Amino acid sequence: MEYKYGKNDNYEDFSAGRVLYSIKGMTNFPVRLAQEIYGRCLQHSRKKNNICLYDCCCGGGYLLTVLGFLNQDTIVKIIGSDINIEMLKIAEKNLSLLSKEGMKRRMHEIGQMIASYQKQSHVEAMNSAITIKELIRTNIDFKVFQSDALKTINIDIKPDIIISDVPYGNIVNWKGNEESVIGKLLDTLYEICSSDTVIGLCMNKKQRARNENFVLLERQQVGKRKFEIFRKSK
Ligand SMILES: C[S@@+](CC[C@H](N)C(=O)[O-])C[C@H]1O[C@@H](n2cnc3c(N)ncnc32)[C@H](O)[C@@H]1O
Repeated sequence: MEYKYGKNDNYEDFSAGRVLYSIKGMTNFPVRLAQEIYGRCLQHSRKKNNICLYDCCCGGGYLLTVLGFLNQDTIVKIIGSDINIEMLKIAEKNLSLLSKEGMKRRMHEIGQMIASYQKQSHVEAMNSAITIKELIRTNIDFKVFQSDALKTINIDIKPDIIISDVPYGNIVNWKGNEESVIGKLLDTLYEICSSDTVIGLCMNKKQRARNENFVLLERQQVGKRKFEIFRKSK
């Protein structure tokens, strides 16, 4: 796949655990790929700004937070949900970094770590925090809540773009029946989408996302992953 939107930049300021929070069991999503999926979803979207972005398997909110920092001109609201309450606590902390106040708090924490441990890694984290804080030009509203994405999702807003890195493999399995699980996920998402909502799902190559209520707008393969972009067919 040729990258159209994800710049070939050095994204190490966003390394999990450096400025953004991370816990054991959290997966790392490649920043360039996240940016590419968002860019392509936005290209398919009729709405080009004031975007409400939702991730129904948000984990620790890494993907959402990075997209928030990198798309300050287009995203105004971020919503994340996950089945795992511990992950949601981290998602909340990560998404709180999307404000000057949140970054000030994080820099204070990093400053205390530098004072206590005199570690080079903490000095590097502070430098990354200074760089990331400079990206903030707007206040992105955010909300996280617990939900099983294979059942009912209770949100009171139709998201403009949904991006999810769905569970796969040994690290993060679906808490649900494996059989045609992504088709089932699309059934749930159907209820919360408008006819304009664009959905980008990232999965491993073996997974299949088919659902007669959605049209496939695009499919791309990237290493071990693929992503597929959908919109409601009716
Ligand atoms: C690949 S991870 C997503 C990582 C996330 N994008 C991030 O940036 O941290 C998949 C997530 O799906 C969640 N999950 C598994 N089964 C679920 C279900 N039935 N409903 C909602 N979330 C689920 C897991 O708890 C895990 O956090």
